[in-house]
Amino acid sequence: MSKSIRLGIIGAGAIANVHLNTFAKLDNAEIAAVTDAYLPLAQQRAEEHGIAVVHENPQALLEDASLDAVIIAVPNQFHAPLAIEALKQGKHVLLEKPMAIDAEASRTIVEAVEQSGKVLMMAHQMRWSGLSRAIKARIDNGDLGRIYNVKTGWMRKKGIPGWGSWFTRSDQSGGGPLIDIGVHMLDLSLYLLGNPKPISVYGSTYAEFGPKKEGIGNWGTPNWEGYYDVEDLASALIKLDNGATLSLDVSWAAHSASVSEDPFIHLMGTDGGVSLVGDKGSFVTHADNEVVQSDVEPLEGDEDRVLLSKHFVECVLEGKQPIAPAISGYTNMRILDAIYESSRTGNEVKLNWD
Ligand SMILES: NC(=O)c1ccc[n+]([C@@H]2O[C@H](COP(=O)([O-])OP(=O)(O)OC[C@H]3O[C@@H](n4cnc5c(N)ncnc54)[C@H](O)[C@@H]3O)[C@@H](O)[C@H]2O)c1
Repeated sequence: MSKSIRLGIIGAGAIANVHLNTFAKLDNAEIAAVTDAYLPLAQQRAEEHGIAVVHENPQALLEDASLDAVIIAVPNQFHAPLAIEALKQGKHVLLEKPMAIDAEASRTIVEAVEQSGKVLMMAHQMRWSGLSRAIKARIDNGDLGRIYNVKTGWMRKKGIPGWGSWFTRSDQSGGGPLIDIGVHMLDLSLYLLGNPKPISVYGSTYAEFGPKKEGIGNWGTPNWEGYYDVEDLASALIKLDNGATLSLDVSWAAHSASVSEDPFIHLMGTDGGVSLVGDKGSFVTHADNEVVQSDVEPLEGDEDRVLLSKHFVECVLEGKQPIAPAISGYTNMRILDAIYESSRTGNEVKLNWD
C-alpha cells in the first residue's frame, strides 16, 4: 500500500470547506481532525465530511500526535501564531494566503520553517490552473524571450467581502484587496517571472466605497456592527532586480467601466507576450512587422486545488521543497507592506535583501 498522510484543519469556514472537498479527492491523504473558534461549525463540517475528531481548540489539534500536517484556514491575524506553533509541534503546514498580516510576522514564519525542517507551502492555487501551467510552459520554452514588463491585477466593481467582519479590519486582515486578491496576482506574476526580487515599490491606496458601506459583494458574512478601515483600491509600480517592471491594480469596489472583472496578467517579453484574462489565454508575437496573435489553451489535468493539494502531500511524503515555499509568501508580503508605506509617505520604498 502506498504511504499516506493525516491532516488536521484549523478553521471550518468558507475556504476550509473548499479544502475539505478537495482533499476528499486524494487517495494518499485524509483530513482526520478539525477545529474552529466556533465549535458548532467544526462539528457540522465533521458530520458533513466524515471527520472522526473535533478538537476543542487549535492547540489541542496541534498537539494531536496522530496528525502529520495541518491546513491553516482562519483569518489572517492568526496565520503566523498558528503556523509557528504547528511547526514547533512537528507538523507540516499548508497555509492559506496571505502568509500573515504583514512582512514582519511573515519573516517569523520563514525562520520557524528553517528551524523546523518541515514543509510549509502557501495555498496559492492559481499557480496550478491549466492556463497558468500552459503559460509557464511557454515561458520555460523561451517563447517570450526576456520578460521586461508585466501588468497584472483584479478590478472588482462591487466585491467587498464580509463588510465589518475580519476581512475589512486592518488589525485582523492586514489590509483590503491588496492582501485579499492582489496577493494572488503578485504571487502568480513573480512565479511566472522566475522569482526575481522586488527592489523598489511606489503605490497608492484609496478607500472610497467601504467607509460608505457601498460596493458590497457576496463573499463572507457582513457584520454591520463592525468597521471598515482598509483600502478598496490600490495601484502600484514594482521594480524587480532583473530590470523588469510590474504594475499591480486591484479593487474590491470601483467605478471601473472595463467590460471584464476577471483577474489578469499581461507578460511582455522581447520575443513574445502572453495574456491571461480569467480563463482565456493568448500569445502575441511580431513577424514581418505584423502582429501575430494566437490562443493559449489550458493544459489538461486535475483542477488547480487538487494539483496544489497533491503537490503538498508529495512534498511531505518525499521531503521535497514545494514550488510555493515560505520565502515566496514573505516576498509577497514585503511588497504589500511597501505599497502601504509608499501610500502613507508619498515616497518610493526601496527593499533591501542583504
Ligand atoms: N486561496 C484562496 O483563494 C482563498 C479564498 C478565500 C479565503 N482565503 C483565505 O482563507 C482564510 C479564511 O478565509 P475564509 O473566507 O474561509 O473566512 P471565514 O470567515 O469564512 O472562515 C474563517 C473561520 O475561522 C474561524 N476562526 C477564527 N479565528 C479562529 C482561531 N483563532 N482558531 C480557529 N478558528 C478560528 C472562524 O470561526 C471561521 O469559521 C483567510 O486567510 C483568507 O484570506 C483564501
